[in-house]
Amino acid sequence: MGVFSTGGVGIDLGSANVTICLENEGVVLREPSYVLTLREDTDEILAVGRDARQMLGRTPKDVSLISPVMDGAVGNIELATALIQRLAEKALGKRRALEKNRLVVSMSQGCTRVERTALEEAVRTAGAKRSALVRSSVAAAMGAGVPIEEPRGSMLICIGGSTTEVTIVSMNGVVAARTMRTGSLALDEAIMRYVRREKGLIIGQRTAEDLKIDLGNAMRSPALVREKASLRGRDASSGKPATVEITAIDIHNAIETPLRALVENIRDAFENIPAELAEDILPQGVYLSGGGARLEGIADRLSEMLGLSVTLGENPQDDVAVGCCMIAASERMMQKFEQSGCLIEV
Ligand SMILES: Nc1ncnc2c1ncn2[C@@H]1O[C@H](COP(=O)(O)OP(=O)(O)OP(=O)(O)O)[C@@H](O)[C@H]1O
Ligand SMILES: [Mg+2]
Repeated sequence: MGVFSTGGVGIDLGSANVTICLENEGVVLREPSYVLTLREDTDEILAVGRDARQMLGRTPKDVSLISPVMDGAVGNIELATALIQRLAEKALGKRRALEKNRLVVSMSQGCTRVERTALEEAVRTAGAKRSALVRSSVAAAMGAGVPIEEPRGSMLICIGGSTTEVTIVSMNGVVAARTMRTGSLALDEAIMRYVRREKGLIIGQRTAEDLKIDLGNAMRSPALVREKASLRGRDASSGKPATVEITAIDIHNAIETPLRALVENIRDAFENIPAELAEDILPQGVYLSGGGARLEGIADRLSEMLGLSVTLGENPQDDVAVGCCMIAASERMMQKFEQSGCLIEV
């Protein structure tokens, strides 16, 4: 870190992943939002992040794997604190302690007062020199390069693991927002159900997620028949290991119902925008962000449905963490977002 660095640290505390971005370095860590504890005593933390997920089923102790952030909100303060602290320490490594850095953590638009208080406490307890919470959609807008300072409205769609947010920003603030408590994880669940029903095979959520990433496509095309994979799982009736072939058409069909619900919800949000804001949005189109935006064909599908151009960056899953870090690194931005009610120091 440079001599003049404020030591800005941005954390996207997502329900699927924790992503950490450091000033002058970029995203240095991205790990699943999990904490592994003893079943009898959940204060006893055995591992966090990737290690937690890897240890599951491989330890002789009676353990539970807990996801302390659900639907973008903190369910368990102690475990969320541990997750932030341990992963921040890991990300910072030997650079400098968290207590010497300025930390900005994302909070979901849709979170309730109680959930926000829990998150505030978790972030405060993590022990940075200064800490703040920022609305995740505003952070995503910063990270995605949305012209958020301009006096005209810009629309951003964030598709996360368990939440989808449609936000209109202008002059460093949020003008309108809609949060849906569903996201890309719903597609994994639909794939699990489809594979069981149509192929007689039981697969886990991670396998379903891999199928979505490798073969998933939001647009239907004849070429999808040629994309296939052989899939191993457990036969639903005999319980024995079995292998079946699965094509991208299968995955397209599997995800169609929740995907359609998701995009129709987005269209509905768009159609309810006040006329003057819609006029701002039409010429520039919409911005797409979040890990769920990486699904093949989703930008095209939204563009077709909304009749607008869709801008999608290279690493949409990093936008929130990058935006949090940009804010943490700038006193001016911290103040601007505090004034617009999008940031609170804790
Ligand atoms: N290449 C890809 N294709 C399809 N989906 C993907 C891809 N990469 C990541 N995803 C999905 O993106 C989701 C995670 O996105 P992200 O990291 O933005 O979520 P999050 O911020 O943890 O969740 P939330 O914002 O809902 O709390 C996962 O469901 C993951 O399967
Ligand atoms: Mg997110």
